[in-house]
Amino acid sequence: MGSGIAQVSIQAGYNVTLVDIKDEFIEKGLKSILKGLSRLEQKGKLGEGVSAQSLVSKIQKTTNIPQAVQNADLIIEAVIENLKIKQDVFRTCDENAPADCLIASNTSSMSITKIAEATKRPEKCLGIHFFNPVPLMKLVEVIKGEKTSEDTLNTAQKWAESLPCRSPRYVPLVLKDRPGFIANRMIAPAFILMNWAFEQAVKEGISWESLNADTLKEGLPMGYLELGDYVGHDTYYHINTYYSKTLSPDFTPGPVYTKMVEDKKLGRKTGQGFFDWSQGRPKLLNEPKANLLSAELLDAIEANEGCRLLEEGVVKHWHIIDETMMAGFNRPGVMKDAVSNYEKWAKMLEEIAGKIDKPYLMPCEMLKTGKFIELK
Ligand SMILES: NC(=O)c1ccc[n+]([C@@H]2O[C@H](COP(=O)([O-])OP(=O)(O)OC[C@H]3O[C@@H](n4cnc5c(N)ncnc54)[C@H](O)[C@@H]3O)[C@@H](O)[C@H]2O)c1
Repeated sequence: MGSGIAQVSIQAGYNVTLVDIKDEFIEKGLKSILKGLSRLEQKGKLGEGVSAQSLVSKIQKTTNIPQAVQNADLIIEAVIENLKIKQDVFRTCDENAPADCLIASNTSSMSITKIAEATKRPEKCLGIHFFNPVPLMKLVEVIKGEKTSEDTLNTAQKWAESLPCRSPRYVPLVLKDRPGFIANRMIAPAFILMNWAFEQAVKEGISWESLNADTLKEGLPMGYLELGDYVGHDTYYHINTYYSKTLSPDFTPGPVYTKMVEDKKLGRKTGQGFFDWSQGRPKLLNEPKANLLSAELLDAIEANEGCRLLEEGVVKHWHIIDETMMAGFNRPGVMKDAVSNYEKWAKMLEEIAGKIDKPYLMPCEMLKTGKFIELK
């Protein structure tokens, strides 16, 4: 992620210093930047007289954080997802960067407020959350920690908007520091239903193809199970365990899913997940639906989460949620459809939450009453 962020920053004309713990890791990052920029150069997208090599040679590199941040205006931390390491990096940056320098984390799950506690400038700390691959994904979430100032947020938003992409960047402000921010939070609770369905499918002898078919709808390139295989079940397992501690115990992975991860059936990366990836993307049998669940129920669950984001004050308007989903996942958000379906969806949610005994799926007030519609 760090090299992707460095690439778009140097393309935008900023002075960039790439930092890592070993020279070989920096070289690996520079190699991937050169590859990305060379592709753009071949397509004539770097501009007149600008070569990939000339841009890469402008990037400064060091393994010494204090030296790197001496004259920085903005620092983006993209080290591994470990709170202690992130706090150590923030502390070192705080002690060595100019007083007005902003310090941002690219964390995908951790509390910005907690990371910023390691510094004496929490008002200048924030989250700037990119999506992978950074040069291609136009969504960047700018996240307010408890003490982040308006100025800090606005400056970061302008900066993120200035970074090149295939089409203009979409940079929503995330106004509350809540797990998953916007995009990842929206897709999170589908796992609660799917987790139940995995257990049920094994009990009833339902094939993964049939269950996958239940989740398909027009406009989606893959069903839930195939997408899980594609992303990696270790990632899903880790993030749902985190949500089980921060949002609700209902996110706790069940025995079937846990065993899959323990058996290293992680999906594409290990060649086997729900499906066989050893020969590339699996050719799924056209099996009939299992009818354990439906794509509409998954939409209802997602809309409910959107309403929770509005209730919690993470975002102010539902159209921001739909735009975020389009920018982050290249698919329409469900909030627009919720405007005409919320009563039916609230009933579906009550029914399923009771049936599978997962209270987190109960419709929240904002969805039940349709009050979210006013927050356009
Ligand atoms: N991979 C994704 O799709 C994705 C998407 C959004 C956000 N993120 C977040 O971005 C961050 C980085 O993720 P990644 O996938 O690029 O991880 P990664 O493991 O590929 O890269 C992390 C890099 O940080 C370096 N590092 C570790 N400790 C360091 C230190 N003390 N000082 C300097 N460098 C250090 C490592 O050597 C490594 O090169 C994480 O917080 C992750 O949650 C990742």
